Amino acid sequence: MQPQRTEHARILVTGAAGFLGSHLARHLAATDASVVCLDDLSGGFKENLPAEIPLIVGSIEDASLIDRLFEEHRFTHVCHLAAYAAEGLSHFIRGFNYRNNLLGSIHLINAAIRARVQRFLFTSSIAVYGDQPAPVTEATPPHPIDPYGIAKLAVEMDLQAANAVFGLPYTILRPHNVYGEGQNLGDAYRNVVGIFMNQLLQGRPLSIFGDGSQQRAFTHVDDFTPTAVKALLSPLAKNQIFDIGSDDPRTVLELAHITAKAFGITKPEIQFLPARQEAHTAFSSHHKLKHMLNFQPRISLEQGVVRMAAWARAIGPRQTRPHAAIEIHEGLPPSWAALS
Ligand SMILES: NC(=O)c1ccc[n+]([C@@H]2O[C@H](COP(=O)([O-])OP(=O)(O)OC[C@H]3O[C@@H](n4cnc5c(N)ncnc54)[C@H](O)[C@@H]3O)[C@@H](O)[C@H]2O)c1
Repeated sequence: MQPQRTEHARILVTGAAGFLGSHLARHLAATDASVVCLDDLSGGFKENLPAEIPLIVGSIEDASLIDRLFEEHRFTHVCHLAAYAAEGLSHFIRGFNYRNNLLGSIHLINAAIRARVQRFLFTSSIAVYGDQPAPVTEATPPHPIDPYGIAKLAVEMDLQAANAVFGLPYTILRPHNVYGEGQNLGDAYRNVVGIFMNQLLQGRPLSIFGDGSQQRAFTHVDDFTPTAVKALLSPLAKNQIFDIGSDDPRTVLELAHITAKAFGITKPEIQFLPARQEAHTAFSSHHKLKHMLNFQPRISLEQGVVRMAAWARAIGPRQTRPHAAIEIHEGLPPSWAALS
């Protein structure tokens, strides 16, 4: 593989106070690159970033802010992670989802085209595949079944159009179910590992939609971040789409027991809620990423959950808040309606 040089790289990381963004920003800041972070703190925390990495608090929905930042810092690379990634909730916050996750992304793509950046890395999602037989691969035709996945696919397609017309080089990653230290434990709508840990910290039962037979391959953040850095910098990853994540699918019920065990609980109390509309089985093959970028997930679910549990116990429970602007109330799962 060709060497990855960063000494002249000026990298914008959006969503950098969030979970994946903060891990990525810290990894990039440890190279010779200069890193500037943007986050509106809607789902992230300043404390996720060390003080020496500059954080601009603002929204990707603010096109004039984006243009000013590009003018001031003359970015060579963009890592775009800012989004509200509550896939299940996205049915009920459609307008918000498209304004934030789609239109906000377009402001960045416009600025990246004008600045002729060398690479635009976008964290899409396995949600672009919808509910299709697993494992999906990059050759599986996307068929998103919720507004979150639709917005992700639209951004992917816009990047491909920007590449075709203006030569904007992109790399698209489609992660799935990443968990780990730094995740927002207080978001009641997303990240089942974080939700379970917050419930355990509060002595509450673990809530599961349906019977818990849904399958996901949970991926520790340390299996994601180094490969994301590689994908940003490697010439091989230019204009490529990669599925990224663990190869080890587990049921949500199994996850509940593994998480409880990491908190020393052998028989957790589980509250089964009415099933919601979601993909029953969602994991992907990582053959392409392994072949092209030597990707190898190494952290087992049991190991990763123990690491995250130690961190979660240290920071303590987080308060959950209802989403400020639910647009559709019909069909909202009762446990979510009860938050409002
Ligand atoms: N964690 C996963 O399992 C997973 C899986 C697939 C895809 N992704 C994608 O990876 C990215 C990061 O996800 P995460 O899990 O770290 O989520 P996160 O919520 O921890 O991080 C997202 C960050 O984006 C910020 N943000 C949201 N809207 C913004 C806006 N308009 N302007 C500026 N900042 C804004 C939030 O404050 C937050 O800090 C997202 O794009 C998500 O869709 C994550």
